[in-house]
Amino acid sequence: EMIPWSIEDAERGGYEHFMLKEIHEIPKVIEDTLFEYLSEDIEMDASFSAGISEIVFIACGTSYHASLVGKYLIEKLTGIPVRVEFASEFIYHQPPMHRALTIAITQSGETADTLEAMRIAKKLGAKTLAIVNVLGSTATRVADHVLYTRAGPEISVAATKSFIAQLIVLYLIALKLSRLPGSEVNRLIDELRAMPELVRKVLEREGEIEQIAVLISGYENMMYIGRGIGVPIAMEGALKMKEISYIHAEAYPAGELKHGSFALLGEKTPVIASLVPDETYEIMLNNIKEVKARESVVVAVADEDDQEVEKYVDFVIRVPKTEHIFSAITHSVVLQLLAYHTARKRGCEIDKPRNLAKSVTVE
Ligand code: AGP
Repeated sequence: EMIPWSIEDAERGGYEHFMLKEIHEIPKVIEDTLFEYLSEDIEMDASFSAGISEIVFIACGTSYHASLVGKYLIEKLTGIPVRVEFASEFIYHQPPMHRALTIAITQSGETADTLEAMRIAKKLGAKTLAIVNVLGSTATRVADHVLYTRAGPEISVAATKSFIAQLIVLYLIALKLSRLPGSEVNRLIDELRAMPELVRKVLEREGEIEQIAVLISGYENMMYIGRGIGVPIAMEGALKMKEISYIHAEAYPAGELKHGSFALLGEKTPVIASLVPDETYEIMLNNIKEVKARESVVVAVADEDDQEVEKYVDFVIRVPKTEHIFSAITHSVVLQLLAYHTARKRGCEIDKPRNLAKSVTVE
């Protein structure tokens, strides 16, 4: 099995940075990853889904944030309890595994901590499934079972399109394991098939996002907030921002700010709020009002038809309306572009940020 990755694919193709090129490839990556698994039934059947009492994700960095989205989706759609462990912590703490299915997520398939955690999980008797982007990488040989993301080669150190491809595989796993009626699963899969088009609409707003990046680039501290599926979106948004722009960015569940982090807010700390139109919407609006009262500039990422949010925030970046669980995709693309343009305004290296490597092959 070979995927045709040509040298040309690895070139910047007219974009100033690989990161920007890779963000613009996201619609195609979603199509390719969906095609891979929807043309035939996803191989998550019998041996993997039978008798799973628990799922444990192990991953690092952006792949860890994808795992947190996976936990949200799987718990919501299937009722199976899910734990998410940093691979680097799992190694030393070796939590009880019972009959857990271990899912390792790794773009490179070469992250030393993730590989070691997979080996330990196997020793502890767990079945291992790896969600990997790089064909033939070490993780694909360690795992009992592999699901590939079809993101193609990712050159920029910052993971962008590979993260979205990981989310696509996680949506498919959650839907496969879900207890929803077949008609509902099919409806959600149809919505998923519309995502490439919706991401193209997000990309059309790049100019607006760039304007907000001009503002953000003047700050040294930021706070990202969300609730529910918005929490891992915020965490990934903050990671991307600090990784390439070197702005200190924290991410918090919005309801947790009052337990300490409110002290950081004020005119020197802008807040990026992911507003997802689900059961967290109203309480999240309240949290945004609390943040505004502390004088932070607030930029909300919200649905295009949301008439309410603009009353309370300084700027709104609009995303096309979708089933709320798929907001993780549209919001993340916005936050990737925001990080990219902020870093660019600050004159950062972007594709090769200081002190970082694309794959971390040391523990
Ligand atoms: C993401 O932008 C980072 N470069 C980093 O957090 C990365 O996701 C992490 O090192 C894990 O890599 P992997 O997915 O290849 O295992």
